[in-house]
Amino acid sequence: MQYYTQFSLKEYNTFGIDVNAKKFVSVQSLSELKEVLAHQKEVFLLGGGSNMLLTKDVDKTVVHLNLKGITVNHQTEKFVEVTAMAGENWHEFVLWCINQNYGGLENLSLIPGNVGTCPIQNIGAYGFEVKDTIVCLEALNLETLELERFSNTECEFGYRNSIFKTWAKNKYAIVSVTFRLTTKNHQTNISYGAIQTQLEGKLNPTLKEISNAVIAIRNSKLPNPKEIGNSGSFFKNPVISVEKFQQLQQKYPDVPSYTVSEKLVKVPAGWLIETAGFKGKSFGKAGVHNKQALVLVNYGTANGMEILNIATTIQKKIKELFGVELEIEVNIF
Ligand code: EPU
Repeated sequence: MQYYTQFSLKEYNTFGIDVNAKKFVSVQSLSELKEVLAHQKEVFLLGGGSNMLLTKDVDKTVVHLNLKGITVNHQTEKFVEVTAMAGENWHEFVLWCINQNYGGLENLSLIPGNVGTCPIQNIGAYGFEVKDTIVCLEALNLETLELERFSNTECEFGYRNSIFKTWAKNKYAIVSVTFRLTTKNHQTNISYGAIQTQLEGKLNPTLKEISNAVIAIRNSKLPNPKEIGNSGSFFKNPVISVEKFQQLQQKYPDVPSYTVSEKLVKVPAGWLIETAGFKGKSFGKAGVHNKQALVLVNYGTANGMEILNIATTIQKKIKELFGVELEIEVNIF
């Protein structure tokens, strides 16, 4: 294992923020991870770097979790259980599953990041959340250096949430995730409007066709982090009370919404941000994406604080105009 000092993290975060790690090491196996953790006092765990905004140099040892491998555990007539190591690239893993004709992850095609980070914020898109396929995961307890197994229920998944964003945050390194996927009679979900449009009414699309439709939609709306730095949705879609929503509707009859429960409604943050006039707006070296207002972008040389300041400006304006709190979805460091 090679340790580097004053190591630039620019290539290791999809926002492309150029900050330095005091120390940096990439681990390829569980034993390497244990060895590093046994000797380093303060660590900063790094997966695909796709859901974080770095606002300062990291005065810790950055441990890049680069464990690879995919194992098929067992297969019944209709299902298969597959374990993927944390460092597997998410989209490549999804494509591998589709090529094996394993169904369940196709709606989550092209999401940046790695397998090991997908459970943390319970990635979701186009009517589907990853929690619906996760059986369990294994995570190394950073204090005891023991491997612990968390069942799906124990992860307490919610909308862009899990215990790894609450009490278990910074206490574990997720090393592998086990998924339950279908091998026949795939229960595909193509109800999302944009997917239907993209599939042009096709009734029984294959996994590959659904994946291609999702890829086309994402490419048309979301900036490619390889071309322009970003971290996907910067905010969560706010969940508000029905009463609050009705007040909003009186003033803005076109406000879109999704029912969460009898008392709660989710409003697209992208709509609030666009209606407030921020869509496509530039603030010097960073700004708001012109095709999806929920995404903040780094035009190339912005620093993390500049992006965080834009987020704060947006939050203030949304509160002022609509009385709604926008919660940041990406992890800020
Ligand atoms: N909208 C606007 N203006 C915009 C963007 C959105 O008015 O600039 C409104 C429109 O009414 C649109 C609705 O918001 O119909 C929903 O937009 P979209 O389908 O793009 O989805 P979203 O709610 O903005 C969520 C996820 C995305 C995911 C999409 C598709 C969150 C925080 N974001 O966005 O996830 O790809 O749904 O399912 O829930 C991510 O987490 O990084 C991410 C990209």
